[in-house]
Amino acid sequence: MPESSRTRSAQAAPVVAMVGGGQLARMTHQAAIALGQSLRVLAADAGDPAAQVSPDVVIGAHTDYDALQRVAKDATVLTFDHEHVPTEHLAKLVADGVTVAPPPEALVHAQDKLVMRTKLAALGAPVPRFAEVTTAAVAHRFAVEAGGTAVIKTIRGGYDGRGVVLVDDPAQARDVAQRYLADGVPILIEERVVMRRELSALVARSAFGQGAAWPVVQTVQRDGICVEVIAPAPELSEGTAAAAAQLGLRLAHELGVVGVLAVELFETLDGAILVNELAMRPHNSGHWTMDGSVTSQFEQHLRAVLDYPLGDTAALAPTTVMANVLGAPQIPAMSVDERIHHLFARMPEAKVHLYGKAERPGRKLGHVNLVGRPGEDLRDLRERAERAAHWLSHAEWTDGWDPHAGDDAGRTDEEKQA
Ligand SMILES: Nc1ncnc2c1ncn2[C@@H]1O[C@H](COP(=O)(O)OP(=O)(O)O)[C@@H](O)[C@H]1O
Ligand SMILES: [Mg+2]
Repeated sequence: MPESSRTRSAQAAPVVAMVGGGQLARMTHQAAIALGQSLRVLAADAGDPAAQVSPDVVIGAHTDYDALQRVAKDATVLTFDHEHVPTEHLAKLVADGVTVAPPPEALVHAQDKLVMRTKLAALGAPVPRFAEVTTAAVAHRFAVEAGGTAVIKTIRGGYDGRGVVLVDDPAQARDVAQRYLADGVPILIEERVVMRRELSALVARSAFGQGAAWPVVQTVQRDGICVEVIAPAPELSEGTAAAAAQLGLRLAHELGVVGVLAVELFETLDGAILVNELAMRPHNSGHWTMDGSVTSQFEQHLRAVLDYPLGDTAALAPTTVMANVLGAPQIPAMSVDERIHHLFARMPEAKVHLYGKAERPGRKLGHVNLVGRPGEDLRDLRERAERAAHWLSHAEWTDGWDPHAGDDAGRTDEEKQA
């Protein structure tokens, strides 16, 4: 190929710019590479997960309009790895001619939990009972009427359970509300849902309006942080699974979402579903798609914002389990490199995704996907995923396995054969 046409075709690649340099941007960059592209990133710090790997990084704050303008300059489309860009900045970018996906009118429903609850209720989507908290007395009265327990949430800025307080009685509701209001933090209160489990309906919608839904998954949270995902959600009735996926597609359409939409759901004890919250970007509940689906959520997000036809969302195995690698309370002396070495020696089937972050207790450092074997018991699959993730963070085998024991003590039959 002559030099000139090679240069031209390189220039023809679209440029997706993403606000936020976290692991979601890092993995979106990974997907962009496969499409012959490179993600442009607005990162707060050169050491951020995506800034480490993309050659096209703007360092700046997502609250700084100049920085947003710089990262959006000549980009095909501007998108997000978190929902914290001030809504007024987004409106200004659109007015300045930037293509923003999802558009600000859609994204606000992932930014503002009160706007989201109000809109979803108006659309007839099932949501927990809720109220805006304007005084501590409002919170107290709501908790009394809800039977004592409730949940207080900051309306903006929360993630991974930050900004979510489960209250056990009306007096506590009043005190928690009082504290937030005194700091000028807007909050809402909602009923504390007694649930069987949490689910997530992950869908994508392209700029053109094409929709696609992955199988509905079960998510497991600890202290408000997602720790495990089972895809598809086990023992979910076909009717509920279809209704949840349909709800996701309908909300994507009604809200005008462009990109990936995660609809976090509660499944109540009688099998009904309620919407917890929305995220309009790749989501922790979709990390399993990297190894367990024909199309990963990161590639799909790019397809959607670039208005390509969407990819096949079928699962590649009957079940895939994702386990998050969360920083151990005590950082192990063993290096991460050595931990990977041991993990690969023992579990060659584990698909490891690390984010390049420094270890800190409770921090999301990566995740592991385990694609189920035909006929495998779900408990065994979950155990393997949990064992792999725990090893990577703690350098400790949950089943007490010792690679240097020199005999077969403590090993399962399967491992002895391996
Ligand atoms: N109304 C509720 N009833 C019971 N548990 C809840 C309720 N709202 C939130 N939670 C729990 O707190 C977690 C975090 O709440 P969420 O609103 O999703 O905040 P975040 O933005 O931090 O993800 C949920 O995944 C769920 O486990
Ligand atoms: Mg959530």
